[in-house]
Amino acid sequence: MTARLPHHEQPDHFAFTKDNAAWAKTQIAKYPKGREASAILPLLWRAQEQHGGWLPEPAIRHVAEILNMPPMRALEVASFYTMFQLSPVGRHHLQLCRTISCWLRGAEALREICRARIGEEGAVSTDGLFSWQEVECLGACVGAPVAQIGEVYHETLTPEALEKLIDALARKGKPDARR
Ligand code: FES
Repeated sequence: MTARLPHHEQPDHFAFTKDNAAWAKTQIAKYPKGREASAILPLLWRAQEQHGGWLPEPAIRHVAEILNMPPMRALEVASFYTMFQLSPVGRHHLQLCRTISCWLRGAEALREICRARIGEEGAVSTDGLFSWQEVECLGACVGAPVAQIGEVYHETLTPEALEKLIDALARKGKPDARR
């Protein structure tokens, strides 16, 4: 797995849109007074969605400010969970499980397909369509090997099935519809 550090190029500024700022307030209101920082996961997630699939430092600072917490604590959360991307990703970001069940069922062969079709882990393909990373258990071991693309899980993948999936996404050229 590549190091999870903030990308070397950062935008100057990030702020939630009006709608997302209003939505953030509803999330924060779910938690008891004094525990507002508990809303950090959904807020970081929404910031990532707003910023095209990855979290720049100004977005992490923005969320920390809203939650009245030190920016470093927000960065600790963002860098811990692999669902948060600290560098730009392709339109279709593949998260490939490498933990024991998936490994035993052929995850290494899937990794080689990703390398051959997309490039090195963490890089964005030259057409901007794809990127990939290895992650720990996605919690769907019964369907090993598993890859998550956007919000969709693809289970019992074979190298052939993954190639077909990449071909289909390349033809489509846009992210999966939200479920
Ligand atoms: S080991 Fe791959 S989903 Fe659990």
